[in-house]
Amino acid sequence: SEDGYRAWLRYENVEDDELLYEYKELVRAVVLRGNSETTRAIEVELKQAITGLLDMEVPFHNNIQVNGTLVIGTPETSEEIAGLDFANKLETVGDEGYVIENAGIDGYETIVIAANSNIGLLYGVFDLMRQLQTYEDISDISIHSAPKVEYRMVNHWDNLSRLVERGYAGLSIWDWGTLPEYKDPRYTDYARLNASIGINATAVNNVNADPRMLTDQFLEKLVVLADMFRPYGIQVFISINYQAPISVGGLDTADPLDPEVRKWWADKADQIYEMIPDFGGFLVKADSEGQPGPFAYDRNHAEGANVLAEAVESHGGVVIWRAFVYSPEQEDRFREAYDEFVPLDGDFKDNVILQVKNGPIDFQPREPFSPLFGAMEETNTMLELQITQEYFGFSYHLAYQGTLFEEALDADTYAKGEGSTVGDVISGEVFDYKHTGMAGVLNIGNYRNWTGHPFVQSNWYAYGRLAWDYTLSADEIADEWMKMTFTNNEQFIDPIGDVMMESREAGVNYRSPLGLTHLYAQGHHYGPAPWTSDLPRSDWTAVYYHKADEEGIGFDRTETGSNAIEQYHEPLESKFRNIETTPEDYLLWFHHVDWDYEMDSGRTLWEELVHNYYKGVEQVRRMQDQWNSIEGLIDQQRFERVKALLEIQEKDAVRWRDSCVLYFQTFSERPIPDQFEKPEHD
Ligand code: GCU
Repeated sequence: SEDGYRAWLRYENVEDDELLYEYKELVRAVVLRGNSETTRAIEVELKQAITGLLDMEVPFHNNIQVNGTLVIGTPETSEEIAGLDFANKLETVGDEGYVIENAGIDGYETIVIAANSNIGLLYGVFDLMRQLQTYEDISDISIHSAPKVEYRMVNHWDNLSRLVERGYAGLSIWDWGTLPEYKDPRYTDYARLNASIGINATAVNNVNADPRMLTDQFLEKLVVLADMFRPYGIQVFISINYQAPISVGGLDTADPLDPEVRKWWADKADQIYEMIPDFGGFLVKADSEGQPGPFAYDRNHAEGANVLAEAVESHGGVVIWRAFVYSPEQEDRFREAYDEFVPLDGDFKDNVILQVKNGPIDFQPREPFSPLFGAMEETNTMLELQITQEYFGFSYHLAYQGTLFEEALDADTYAKGEGSTVGDVISGEVFDYKHTGMAGVLNIGNYRNWTGHPFVQSNWYAYGRLAWDYTLSADEIADEWMKMTFTNNEQFIDPIGDVMMESREAGVNYRSPLGLTHLYAQGHHYGPAPWTSDLPRSDWTAVYYHKADEEGIGFDRTETGSNAIEQYHEPLESKFRNIETTPEDYLLWFHHVDWDYEMDSGRTLWEELVHNYYKGVEQVRRMQDQWNSIEGLIDQQRFERVKALLEIQEKDAVRWRDSCVLYFQTFSERPIPDQFEKPEHD
């Protein structure tokens, strides 16, 4: 039965006879050069993939003996490849990229996968297998590919207790209790899935970090994970707790400028690198949501980060410092990260990377991009996205995030005039960054299918593909993912592609259309509670974000309000200041708008809001119809599961709609337009 464990590496038998024949002719044998853990991983992967896809055992030869040989190697390990005229093109693909080309070698027709490193070869092999999985013609193949950012990370918010913060698929897959003795094969499958989409780094524990991660006990366990991930090109990182010099080290301060604290971190880093020579570095959440940090000692973020950066510097490590900060004293949470970090631009060491969430608040269904992107000319800045659906219906709702990721990456910051997108910034095209990267909060768990909802896997997949190449489109990624995960049958791909591409917008519409944000019940972030007003921190309440009153609704961020708009470069600043030129998707992010304000559609703001909430529910119903139309085209198990989850989603969407519409109506005091069914209430 299909339990989803294999995710997009299912390697099901090619169902098209002609293609199957063609593939069998083109991949009759393999010559794999090199002898390393990674080349052994390649061999295992290829055998498994080809057995599955082509239903044959592919022979591995010591030299080319037949047409249709797949030749895999680097110029160092393979004379065949060193002698090819495209070997010089390898310079352009760097350490991790690869080239796949047809080539005649010694009179034989071959497909060559060439790279400068064995990891590059592994990525090339996964790419070629993806071509087969998605039924591409490989008879005349020419692929040159290299990652556009250096660190392509996943972040786990996994606690050492195995409870996962904002994780909806069971317990942490890291079974700390049985490590280091038991090397669960699942860790290898995890590495395979990540490597297949180009992920090369993982931070294994929650950013709300348990200091014990730095103790010998846990470091010994970490060594096993690092050893298991290494063949797949994945470096390990850990999240650290800023008070660790006290709680683990027994010092009486964690002041970053204290010489003993400095030494403690340096010694700790030396110890870790002794155990894990290719350790990636530290991920830090400091002075944010109650986490300790340098502020307690009157030191700023740069001073806080630099002591850690110094400790890992000689080992080639980096410190990833998160910019997710806000405090109840600020009038506008939106402003905070920019206000705290921009004055420090230039003060961070070269091996510090600032990790910034895509939006200024917190992974909402739709946010404008964080103005920190494009503002930090001298500070390496990377992007943090959320794969887990904290604000998107957990693992109960179908909400493909590829479109959200794409929107975030394509947003133009205008940092250096038109065409300075967030993607260009984080890949170091706009400013000359020493290190570049992307992080995705990946809260898979020990459920068989990793993610709970089968479609949450698509977020993981899309994240990895975009981390490799941020110019790919969400649409083509969805297409690949469906083919690899479900079927190549167009009767499935067409309607379900529509479902995926519409799903994020549906989620925006039934939760928080037109630039509303954070209307969640506090704590779990699942259901609606736009009325929440009485909490210990005002910036956790919903009323703080929507500011509805008799006049209208929305957060004024112009000069009559918090003026956060000033953080954007021109011409965006002027565009957002003017209500008429503010895109309607972001309207209530930037303006407090009259209920009777006329929208592009000719409807009033109130009518438009109601319209969008109703539309969101209709979109979910259409998703249900489309899903029902593909029954029989895939296994019944996953069909039924998604069908049931869509029923939950429909109920939840109605609840969101009715809660929000009825609550906002208490301010607008305007009727729900006639064309809509009226919500039922007491
Ligand atoms: C959100 C989330 C927290 C998380 C935080 C973070 O606020 O709800 O659980 O710790 O983001 O990114 O640090």
